[in-house]
Amino acid sequence: MAEDAPDILLTKERIAQRVAELAAQISAEHRGGELLVVGVLNGAFVFMADLIRALTVPCSVDFVRLASYSGCESCGQVRITKDLETPVAGRDLLVVEDIVDTGLTLSWLVEALRVRQPASLKVCAFLDKKERRKVPFEADYVGFAIPDRFIVGYGLDYNERYRYLPDVCVLRDTAS
Ligand code: IMP
Repeated sequence: MAEDAPDILLTKERIAQRVAELAAQISAEHRGGELLVVGVLNGAFVFMADLIRALTVPCSVDFVRLASYSGCESCGQVRITKDLETPVAGRDLLVVEDIVDTGLTLSWLVEALRVRQPASLKVCAFLDKKERRKVPFEADYVGFAIPDRFIVGYGLDYNERYRYLPDVCVLRDTAS
């Protein structure tokens, strides 16, 4: 994969505008309630930090980190390497993820969290590569539907590089 300086796909201004829209929609749909916002590490941390500061409903936050079983990245066998520290039973959950790609990670996580009996569970994904699905999965809230390119910046990485970029960028000549 090329390691050139990435090209901007979504500017930080466009991202900020869309995050504000998402937060307004989520706040309106949860008015009078209180959210437990669950961030999926590491990629979601930048998006989640902006999103929660734009919400107008109270929320608390927790984080989960997931990994694929080695040698089985595409088969959907996911494990939790850092679990939530907050009980979720009876809570209104908003799972925040950086990107939906094959759908394997989020479909597994949603089922794993449903077993813990939250009062409600919604998923907010910053980016969505719909054409890459291996399992059916639709997030409740999506920032941007994007083409099948490898994306970095705004929390997303390539080998732990580029997470700090304020814009969403695409590595040149790459499909994911
Ligand atoms: P899924 O299980 O295939 O939907 O993959 C979800 C995870 O793959 C995301 O949380 C990202 O960590 C990673 N991922 C998928 N596409 C990209 C990309 O274009 N850039 C960076 N990470 C990606």
